[in-house]
Amino acid sequence: MLNRGVIERYRAYMPVTPTTRIITLNEGSTPLIPAYNLAKAIHPRLDIYLKYEGLNPTGSFKDRGMTMAITKAVEDGFEGVICASTGNTSASAAAYAARAGIKCIVIIPEGKIALGKLSQAMIHGARVVQIKGNFDNALQLVRSIASRHAIALVNSVNPFRIEGQKSGAFEIVDDLEGYAPDCHALPVGNAGNISAYWKGYKEYFAAGKAKNRPKMLGFQAAGSAPIVLGRPVDDPQTFATAIRIGNPASWKTAVEARDESGGVIGMVTDHQIRDAYKMLASIEGVFAEPASAASIAGLIKLAANGYFDTMKPIVGDRIRVTCVLTGHGLKDPDSAIKAAEETVTVEPTEEAVLEAIGLEASVSALV
Ligand code: F0G
Repeated sequence: MLNRGVIERYRAYMPVTPTTRIITLNEGSTPLIPAYNLAKAIHPRLDIYLKYEGLNPTGSFKDRGMTMAITKAVEDGFEGVICASTGNTSASAAAYAARAGIKCIVIIPEGKIALGKLSQAMIHGARVVQIKGNFDNALQLVRSIASRHAIALVNSVNPFRIEGQKSGAFEIVDDLEGYAPDCHALPVGNAGNISAYWKGYKEYFAAGKAKNRPKMLGFQAAGSAPIVLGRPVDDPQTFATAIRIGNPASWKTAVEARDESGGVIGMVTDHQIRDAYKMLASIEGVFAEPASAASIAGLIKLAANGYFDTMKPIVGDRIRVTCVLTGHGLKDPDSAIKAAEETVTVEPTEEAVLEAIGLEASVSALV
């Protein structure tokens, strides 16, 4: 089937009319990759599936919501959009605004944006303003500016973003042939995505397209865990800069998703996120950005606490868990290089290279 983006794929569930001009980069339809090695390492009863959102056009899940938000901004006659961002939203907004031929302004926390994301916003021609503050400050600013100027706000407080993002849940159920997973794990920052996935699962269930609904398992970084702590965090910290957020806009709907689904919102330390980030890349061959690995870190933590031991799956005796890998690892090469083994540099001789790779000069083949 030709991929024409998530609005066309799920048109019946999207707020568009036959005359709406759809702004798309053919986002969505990302792979659901079985993670056999991770499952084996984490818990004997788990089947883990990775929803690899890094394969969207701008390298993150934000494209699902942005196609809808920019489509509506154009339909409503806006000539410009604005957003606050920890990086991915700005990259996506800049790309879709460029596609639509409208202006894009992004407000980001100075020095806390992964290089790949910053480069995307810049090359797509957005006006990039760095503030000496954090994401929460930036969001407050853009909300105020958008309320008083003819410019559309495309953060996930824009309900059209959520409408587009819920398509991720539809795709998972379609790939699992009419079943939602038993559990759905994902990182939580501004909390739009957990709200969107839960909305998608509920809608598909209500439409008779899914036989069940999953438990929603959301994970925040321990230094930026307002929902877990039950209060805003003034100075959020984590190396997973995408989820460095102290006062999520969709707090209430995230808590509803947790409670209605019988799930959990927990927290994982930077150390646990870094370990999961390396593990995912090194034993499964899947490169996601640090924030994305919070879902894997969270699973590891829940499994160690016995969370899955007595869980009854919807089909068979294995527990199916989907993990959303929200952004591509290439967004943040600095974190990868810091987390990985160092490279070596040697003289350009066979002898030196053999020594560096631990082979003896007399051995003729790798064994
Ligand atoms: N993972 C990545 C890679 C993200 O970029 C984000 C959010 C999240 C997870 C959390 O999703 O906010 O819906 O709970 N990034 C936003 C941004 C805040 O500006 O790019 P959420």
